[in-house]
Amino acid sequence: MSILTGEEMDFRTPELDGLASRVIPDQYFELRAEDARDTYFTDTSKLDAKQLVHDRFRTNPLALHDQLIRALDLRGAEELLDLGCGNGEILARIRPYLAAGHLVGLDIAPAVLDVARSRLDGVATPCDFVEGSADDLVMFPDHSFDRVMAVYMAHYVTDLQRCFAEVRRVLRSGGRFLLATDRPDSMVEMYDVHFAALREMNAPQHLFRATPKARISLDNGPAQLAPHFATVERADWQDQLQFAKADPFLAFYRSSNYCCAGSKPGEGLAPAFFTELEERVRASVQTVIDDVGYFALTKYTGTLICS
Ligand SMILES: C[S@@+](CC[C@H](N)C(=O)[O-])C[C@H]1O[C@@H](n2cnc3c(N)ncnc32)[C@H](O)[C@@H]1O
Repeated sequence: MSILTGEEMDFRTPELDGLASRVIPDQYFELRAEDARDTYFTDTSKLDAKQLVHDRFRTNPLALHDQLIRALDLRGAEELLDLGCGNGEILARIRPYLAAGHLVGLDIAPAVLDVARSRLDGVATPCDFVEGSADDLVMFPDHSFDRVMAVYMAHYVTDLQRCFAEVRRVLRSGGRFLLATDRPDSMVEMYDVHFAALREMNAPQHLFRATPKARISLDNGPAQLAPHFATVERADWQDQLQFAKADPFLAFYRSSNYCCAGSKPGEGLAPAFFTELEERVRASVQTVIDDVGYFALTKYTGTLICS
């Protein structure tokens, strides 16, 4: 038996493609960085839960950090800036590859930044943590980093063109910028059960929207990055989370703010709305588990590598 390297894994089927074309709407949620900071990222519980689920239920032997480490192409002494570093999980995974380098994590949310700071506390590699927004890097001089990365965060950034111009400015010549995001049809199985439940509940029409990552996705990202970088290379990869029990899937669904339906508290949706939504989604997921043995969540993700 040959060992799968994880790079060639392909979960796409004509059925999944057909499902995506029926289920994924053109309109997507737009989330403001400040709203996310003041609601979703007041602590790291949701981010921690999502990372844990990816670790436990993935079927691709290569994890996100493995893919990033490959794309970063490090020699070990680079200076790296992580925009929207979150709880520092990725920085901590990358640090051994940059033991003689310098890490800087920037995030708009002080609560998650504190967790990142503690996670890397005491390591000999110099690490700095800065509160700020990715579209204003004024605190960094020109040409101060060899690598910059923005992992699943660019969709929050208010002024993306300014952000990319700033990244270009702070990058040294020969450096690279990695932007990790999804295809809009990633996790179509979750959107399918979610929208089916919303339809059964006659939910408001504005909830029928695609992932906010569709704003800067693997499909439309290269055109947005092209004005700032000589080359933009797209590196797709896939994974499939497989859940043999409904509970861990529901933990993931909840920590994804119910496909963003619960992203804006105070929009008039009572807690009972989400209780019913969860019950309906649980029933659909359990039916699939009873039929197939597990509920699959196919991830179409990747990195735009800019230099
Ligand atoms: C989904 S998390 C990703 C965290 C980390 N990159 C990862 O992949 O584990 C998005 C992070 O981006 C941060 N963020 C959102 N908008 C930002 C902005 N404009 N500037 C800097 N950080 C931002 C959030 O506070 C959050 O920590």
